[in-house]
Amino acid sequence: MNKVLVSLLLTLGITGMAQAAGDAAAGQTKVALCGACHNADGNSAAPNFPKLAGQGERYLLKQMNDIKAGSTPGAPEGVGRKVLEMTGMLDPFSDQDLADIAAYYSSQKISVGAADPALVERGAALYRGGKLAEGMPSCIGCHAPDGKGNAPAAYPALGGQHATYVAKQLTDFREGVRTNDGDTMIMRSIAAKLSNKDIAALSSYIQGLH
Ligand code: HEC
Ligand code: HEC
Repeated sequence: MNKVLVSLLLTLGITGMAQAAGDAAAGQTKVALCGACHNADGNSAAPNFPKLAGQGERYLLKQMNDIKAGSTPGAPEGVGRKVLEMTGMLDPFSDQDLADIAAYYSSQKISVGAADPALVERGAALYRGGKLAEGMPSCIGCHAPDGKGNAPAAYPALGGQHATYVAKQLTDFREGVRTNDGDTMIMRSIAAKLSNKDIAALSSYIQGLH
């Protein structure tokens, strides 16, 4: 299947699913497997496993559809989002299951971490001010000053997320390893302007943000 067709199918799938309302109580009964890495309440302990607690429902659903498409055994390169640790794991779930799981994690409360005091100043300046001279917008316009994101727009919440995970995502966007931000390439074009030091500072700041 070519790329355009795949993204069209994904878009249709997501539009269809936005109407299937998720049931958080039903979702809680479907996440036993996920808890091994993301923890039962979505506050993962390991810093390379993202926290899902309190994340926007639409964003979670989009990621699960992208991961399902990109992490099924034999998925072609460049389709969806590849998470090796989750290979084939979402295949058994129906659209309704994924909507329920998204509703469940979204209803949980994220546990916020702490920022490294040595990195806060640089991280805050980038997060709030961007790099205007290089045409890079600040993060607050989409992810909000307190890091809560914009749930209806599917801009993810970032505040309290593990710095290790955030740094990997920004690096993956920059290096073209994570491409599921779509044709508008919002995060790939932003991360292209970030040095490794910028990424370290932003990630630490985000871990303590609330
Ligand atoms: C063996 C560990 C493991 C298990 C089990 C697992 N995941 Fe994941 N999950 C990961 C890792 C690692 C990532 C992030 C990969 C990366 O760096 O991009 C991830 C990413 C995600 C994301 C994207 C989060 C974001 O902020 O973008 C969602 C949503 C998710 N997992 C849901 C699930 C669900 C639902 C299940 C159970 C059906 C599950 N995961 C089971 C390891 C796991
Ligand atoms: C114009 C809106 C916009 C701006 C500005 C923006 N982002 Fe994003 N960001 C997004 C969207 C949309 C996604 C989700 C992409 C997808 O669907 O995979 C995202 C995803 C992310 C993720 C992945 C989250 C996860 O759980 O995996 C990180 C980390 C991130 N952004 C950090 C930043 C930082 C840091 C800045 C500022 C330097 C920034 N973003 C600026 C829209 C934006």
